[in-house]
Amino acid sequence: MSSVLDYEEISQDFDWSASEKELGYVEGGTINIGWYCSDRLCDLGLRKKPALIWEGHQGDERTYTFDDLRLRSNGIARYLRGLGLEPGERVCLFMDRIPELYIAFLAILKMGGIVQPLYSAFGEESLWTRLDDAGTAAILTQRKHVGKVRRIRDRLPGLRYVIVVDADESKLREAEIAFSLADTPPVEEFEVYPATAETPSVLHYTSGTTGQPKGAQHVHYSLISQYLTAKWVLDLRPDDIYWCNADPGWVTGTSYGIIGPWSNGITQAVLDAGFSARRWYGFIEKHRVTVWYSAPTAIRLLMREGKRVVEEYDLLSLRHLCSVGEPLNAEAVVWSWQALGLPFHDTYWQTETGCIVITNFPGMPVKPGSMGKPFPGIQATVLDTRTGEPINEPGKVGVIALKAPWPSIIRTYWRNPAGYERKFKDGWYMTDDRASIDEDGYYWFVGRDDDVINTGGHLVGPFEIESALLEHPAVAEAAAVGKPDPVNMEVVKAFVTLGPGYSDGEDLEIEIMNFIRKKLSALAMPQEIEFVDSLPRTRSGKIVRRVLRAQEWGEPVGDLSTLVEDEREGK
Ligand code: PRX
Repeated sequence: MSSVLDYEEISQDFDWSASEKELGYVEGGTINIGWYCSDRLCDLGLRKKPALIWEGHQGDERTYTFDDLRLRSNGIARYLRGLGLEPGERVCLFMDRIPELYIAFLAILKMGGIVQPLYSAFGEESLWTRLDDAGTAAILTQRKHVGKVRRIRDRLPGLRYVIVVDADESKLREAEIAFSLADTPPVEEFEVYPATAETPSVLHYTSGTTGQPKGAQHVHYSLISQYLTAKWVLDLRPDDIYWCNADPGWVTGTSYGIIGPWSNGITQAVLDAGFSARRWYGFIEKHRVTVWYSAPTAIRLLMREGKRVVEEYDLLSLRHLCSVGEPLNAEAVVWSWQALGLPFHDTYWQTETGCIVITNFPGMPVKPGSMGKPFPGIQATVLDTRTGEPINEPGKVGVIALKAPWPSIIRTYWRNPAGYERKFKDGWYMTDDRASIDEDGYYWFVGRDDDVINTGGHLVGPFEIESALLEHPAVAEAAAVGKPDPVNMEVVKAFVTLGPGYSDGEDLEIEIMNFIRKKLSALAMPQEIEFVDSLPRTRSGKIVRRVLRAQEWGEPVGDLSTLVEDEREGK
């Protein structure tokens, strides 16, 4: 079944104002995403419609209607405001995918705060880096994660509130607060913060090549893109049950795991459990999921389990499948076509773009292995890295560039406007991804144009890993690169030189791996550490990761004498 929309037709006279109109937004007026994802749907008669069907890892289930979202987000918003939190302050969500996470997300926006979602599996150092940079005023977390907050709290003078949503009050420490969603009375009336288009909304931390992760600053006007792309690309329709695998610690989990579906009044199902083919198929079958937004690593894991498992479940409810985060290989598309009867539609975008920018539009012929074409309203090209000019030759590789602005492009990097400026060239936003365009206008992803590592669809920054490695007493120098992996596309590999008195060996390798896992996360943990005598450097002494990376990928290293010292500065 394909969408009624014709890609060519709607591309011709596309204007984002179509989205503004549907949402009833008037230029210069208020636009609060929290309100748009709860109150507005109630005003439109969807009070009783399920908004969130939640299933926990132990199989416990809860359902919240759009009216529940409205009343409960009002309750949390009033509570936060009552604490003295001001509009514009950063409020962090550091939780598993429990209902509180989704409802508090809307609440923070409703009270005018900037919501800062962080992946709950982050270790204390990853957490500290991001809270410190954002100057976060409050954090909402769970009992199981509060220990990490405690260990860094004395290094976060600006963190005024640590709020535990499932606390046993007797076990809380001084200056920690217990909050219970269930015990908080629903609030009928709440004065929603009158956010306008450029009011900051969500702050997502993302990794670059140099420096610590950057806070990508979104604004409430992003809704205009997120609403329409969710509706058109994910092909959402009123009776859909939509499932997005992504954690809201990453942009997919907010743009399309909260804002996109809910602003469209769509019921979404959330599973707070890790990967398991049977559990996932069982979830689709049980909740009659119709639209599924997943990722290549997950699809490859499903492929590994085989088609037999698929046949044990009734998955006929599925109508549309999409994927994001890493290159969707042609085999995965063909497999899903055969196993599930539907192809996965690739979607390409970034934390910075805020919305899907290149995609296999529903109804458009899918070319397995291609990302598809630019979303209407997004002017894209590939630029020649030398001349900076658009490449007009089919098949020739360049850097994907997008003509700025569009509603959901980030407005800055938090406290790093210069880093943001560096992303632009002659009005083009540079993605730092390489691709080619074929004669039909389809984009084919080639690879990243920087040193960022994409493991299972999650970006990890080499600098953050290297800095953490250097804190281990045995490590003298370190470099982190991506090495190929059949499931995760890339995993982290570290090259390390040791300080005097230390000798290499498996015990030390495992010790360092665990050191990183605890400090940063399992994602950032090197899967392999190679102990070396020295690291490749430029003449001025800068470590050249690309030599190590090329070695891992079996690619030519290139001419080292031509290395430009600062070519990658600031990415
Ligand atoms: O390298 C591209 C890869 O993921 C990067 C963006 O990561 P992040 O900001 O964490 O956002 C991920 C979810 C939107 C991109 O620069 N990427 C994303 N989608 C694709 C992709 N690579 C290939 N194909 C895709 N469809």
